[in-house]
Amino acid sequence: MSTSFRSLPVASLQERYRSAEWRGAIFRDILLHELTQFPEPTTLDIGCGHGFDADMDVQTVLGKASARYIGVEPDTEIPLNSLFTETHRCFFEDAAIEPHSVDLAFSCMVLEHLEHPQKFWDKLHEVLRPNGVFWGFTIDARSYFPYISLAFEKSGLKDAYLNALHGKRGEARYENYPVFYRSNSPRHVQALGKNFQSLSYINFTRVGQLDFYYPKPLQWIGRSIDRGLLLLDLPGNIFAVRAVK
Ligand SMILES: C[S@@+](CC[C@H](N)C(=O)[O-])C[C@H]1O[C@@H](n2cnc3c(N)ncnc32)[C@H](O)[C@@H]1O
Repeated sequence: MSTSFRSLPVASLQERYRSAEWRGAIFRDILLHELTQFPEPTTLDIGCGHGFDADMDVQTVLGKASARYIGVEPDTEIPLNSLFTETHRCFFEDAAIEPHSVDLAFSCMVLEHLEHPQKFWDKLHEVLRPNGVFWGFTIDARSYFPYISLAFEKSGLKDAYLNALHGKRGEARYENYPVFYRSNSPRHVQALGKNFQSLSYINFTRVGQLDFYYPKPLQWIGRSIDRGLLLLDLPGNIFAVRAVK
């Protein structure tokens, strides 16, 4: 399995994350680097509601770097960026996108929500052109966070906990879409993306990566765990996958 990133400076991107830079800016730079290989890119933003990592400006930058910018968003309550040249208000798996038409597809914080990821990966293969590229930015299933997140979700406490910490869902924070973490590790993706010519992965980690989920007085707990993970060279919370058709 190739681990080619097309001269992407992976170590320096990981270092930027480690120095507490916002992940959205790092993901944006990965996509802008990828877009340079396509003269008139058709770009597909899967789960495009709320912008890119909840930022409309970054989404606009990505749209302006594309000749065609297709957005897919099943949550019809979310208004979409006016920059899209084509939108599909449905699950990506059901979207009527022309086969073999997309140069670069990406999803930011979407893969963790897929209950049936094989359908998603098959659809990706269908819509990408030969040598087209997919980047997925998501949560790493090898870190401890998904286990806690799933336990909170199953116990019915997740919403109440996040409401208490960060305000009502959909107002002060993302809607609490169900999570499955089934497309979120190299092992998952190798099984799902068998028909792609290459699959490569990056893990991002840092001290304080889960501060958002701890009440301030308890953030030291998460930070101590992060230090331990770094010391043992274990994967952190963010997983990025690059797939080439
Ligand atoms: C956590 S939000 C992330 C939104 C945006 N990508 C961002 O970076 O801010 C997850 C989004 O994925 C969308 N989504 C979930 N399953 C999807 C699917 N199968 N196809 C397309 N979008 C999906 C949800 O409706 C939601 O807007």
